[in-house]
Amino acid sequence: MLEIKIYSEKGWEEIEELPWNREVEEWTGYHFIERRKGESRHILYFLRTEKGDIVIKKTSAETAEKEFYTYKKLIAMGIPTIAPIGFVRKVKNEESEGYLLTLYEKDTLPQSHLIKILKNKYYRDLVWNAVIALLVVMHLKGIFWGDPSLDNILIKLYKNKVEALLIDCETVQFYDFLSEAKEKEDLERLFESLFAYSVTEDEASEKIFEERKKYILERYERLKKLLSGELDIEDEKYYKLIKRIDDLFLLGYTIKPTRIAPKLKIIAHPITPRKGWFVQMLEDMLNVSFTPEQAKKIFREILQYRYKLSKAKGEEVKLSDAARDWYNKQFLPAKQIFKKYFPNENPVKIYLEILDHKWFLSEKAGKDVGIEAAAKSYSELYGKEENKPIWQKVMDTFKRLLESNKQR
Ligand SMILES: Nc1ncnc2c1ncn2[C@@H]1O[C@H](COP(=O)(O)OP(=O)(O)OP(=O)(O)O)[C@@H](O)[C@H]1O
Ligand SMILES: [Mg+2]
Repeated sequence: MLEIKIYSEKGWEEIEELPWNREVEEWTGYHFIERRKGESRHILYFLRTEKGDIVIKKTSAETAEKEFYTYKKLIAMGIPTIAPIGFVRKVKNEESEGYLLTLYEKDTLPQSHLIKILKNKYYRDLVWNAVIALLVVMHLKGIFWGDPSLDNILIKLYKNKVEALLIDCETVQFYDFLSEAKEKEDLERLFESLFAYSVTEDEASEKIFEERKKYILERYERLKKLLSGELDIEDEKYYKLIKRIDDLFLLGYTIKPTRIAPKLKIIAHPITPRKGWFVQMLEDMLNVSFTPEQAKKIFREILQYRYKLSKAKGEEVKLSDAARDWYNKQFLPAKQIFKKYFPNENPVKIYLEILDHKWFLSEKAGKDVGIEAAAKSYSELYGKEENKPIWQKVMDTFKRLLESNKQR
């Protein structure tokens, strides 16, 4: 006696028509494809259908059903993961088996594979930032993963951002509040897997592993702190929230400003920006194109500028308004000044060098020292001897300009 129970998500009823009375290996006339995947215990089939590629994972009947509902719950809670479309339970003479069906997630690679091929530190950090964000958001929502191995983390590469997706939810547990011990357990499991994938006989590999572990732990704590503290905007004033968003940005995350609503208590998911994201944002807001390196620095500056404007006004200044204001009142005039005094230099380059210098001084001072002080210090340090009088003129002009801005 063969008993088959099939459950399909709305819109995926056709999976009920698949020949479940036979073993998947024996299906004829179906188009199976090869796909790269992480190490796995179970057998997986990748099937091409008219509606898209789907993954069929052979497992126990109980696990298939449990995983199906767990994935659904994770999605409802806003955790990036794969989309379940159905499950099958087969019982044949006392013995049962199950199949879990999910939508094949395109443009993804398991982290276990990525760490082998990513050589550039910038991209490595970016991908790890996405993984850390996934873990922090899960933990803050009381979700214990149980098996965050590098094979179970899918990295999705979008045109201008990177996202980490959870896969394999067999061990996932939901709590109201996740204990520190549970958080640690997940992190330990992650490090175990990272160790297995990256440490070889070569001594240097262990050092690299330790550095990465430290990087992950530090960022995990900082991000958790930034995302978890409650912030009642009514009492605390909007600009404090903006400050928090800016701090997130500096940690390598950004969240869409539109997602912020008054009375919001927890900040939405961080997305991990790729370089192109800032270029795009500035093009949208200012209609001007910068290189990715420039765009990131300028964006950082605009955030800080917006923070100051919002604080002065006592209400949120829209990012696009702040960007335009900054562009017209700070950037363009500065560009004119540099053009005038340094006709042979690229004015944007000088401006950005001063911004970098400002950042360095502000970090040291623990507060924003302002563009004027930065320009002064920069010119004293780096202005060539013969340029000194010119830099003095630059400074005077800057000063006048900023004063006239203040009076407006
Ligand atoms: N929907 C999907 N889209 C893209 N890749 C997938 C999908 N489902 C599975 N994979 C790939 O197949 C691999 C194995 O899947 P999964 O982790 O669910 O099985 P498993 O490791 O055998 O499970 P378990 O750890 O419970 O034994 C994943 O690491 C992933 O690379
Ligand atoms: Mg797995």
